[in-house]
Amino acid sequence: MADDTPRPHKRRSRYRGKNPRAFHEKYKELDPLRYGADVEKVLSSGKTPAGSHRPIMVDEILECLRPVPGEMAVDATLGGGGHARAILERILPAGRLIGLDVDPIELPRTEARLRSEGFGPDVFTVHHSNFAGLARVLAGEGLVGANVILADLGVSSMQLDNPDRGFGYKESGALDMRMNPHKGLPASQVLARTPVDRLARLLEANADEPHADSIAAALKATPIETTGDLHEVVCEALTALRLPEEEKKASVRRTFQALRIAVNDEFATLDWLLRSLPELLAPGGRVAILTFHSGEDRRVKKALQSGHRDGLYASISGEVIRPSRDEVRANPRASSAKLRWAIRSAPQT
Ligand SMILES: C[S@@+](CC[C@H](N)C(=O)[O-])C[C@H]1O[C@@H](n2cnc3c(N)ncnc32)[C@H](O)[C@@H]1O
Repeated sequence: MADDTPRPHKRRSRYRGKNPRAFHEKYKELDPLRYGADVEKVLSSGKTPAGSHRPIMVDEILECLRPVPGEMAVDATLGGGGHARAILERILPAGRLIGLDVDPIELPRTEARLRSEGFGPDVFTVHHSNFAGLARVLAGEGLVGANVILADLGVSSMQLDNPDRGFGYKESGALDMRMNPHKGLPASQVLARTPVDRLARLLEANADEPHADSIAAALKATPIETTGDLHEVVCEALTALRLPEEEKKASVRRTFQALRIAVNDEFATLDWLLRSLPELLAPGGRVAILTFHSGEDRRVKKALQSGHRDGLYASISGEVIRPSRDEVRANPRASSAKLRWAIRSAPQT
């Protein structure tokens, strides 16, 4: 029988086009609980599911840090919390981990995820802070030194893949690159305000860019507002130099890296951390630092060697530790990772 009852008019949701445009609409992996199979598919293809970060060299880091139950650990770069989870599993029961990150967008998501996995505020505390403020954070928690400190430098995949954050060019977005978007200037303004010579020196100092002068000149000749603009202008400048495709790609990657380092003042904060580490570690405490380019690794290597010479570290890594071939195959973002460690000396008795 037909039902004649009038139904309230329901407006059809507006068709957004065949291909969803916004990052948030585009990737099923952003809802891993609903689309677990899709997440698995992305992982097995060697890619990182959107909205997540695959922790790098977890076993190697645990081997250097050797966390044991009851210890006090710091993850100075919490990111998606993958390393923090692995450390927490080793220091419980009775241990505690303090996680720091400058990113006010991803930090609450990571905290919520780890809380939902059962890590309560008694064992896991979160601070929205630059690791340059670690001494203050420890003092505020009534702590003198940590048994374990990890710093996994650079940006997370969540930051890199989200075009709204302006770090990458897979999808164009406003050229921002701030890990903390409430502080400092976006990369587009840093570019606009930096004179051409200083820009060229910045590309050399932050990324060892061999074509710094040509790239800087091109960047100053055109207004750059988006990551797409930046990509395009650098490619055009390098095409004029008749560089092979692979070399061009490497220069684009280095230009993005150099700008990101400048925007977030990454070398100054790393230098601060390296100087303060001996005071932040308890006697016998271990530190592991994961770097992703030569400018970072050079600093870490020099600081650990000098601390060792001065007797502040009882021992340090000899050769740099690299990810296994299997890890790089499964996660190409691990390919440039370099790991170094040090152990704080214990006072003579
Ligand atoms: C490579 S990710 C860390 C990933 C993390 N180990 C994991 O397992 O998910 C680097 C993180 O460090 C943060 N970061 C970078 N520099 C920082 C600094 N100076 N102080 C605090 N956090 C920082 C970034 O915002 C980013 O979330």
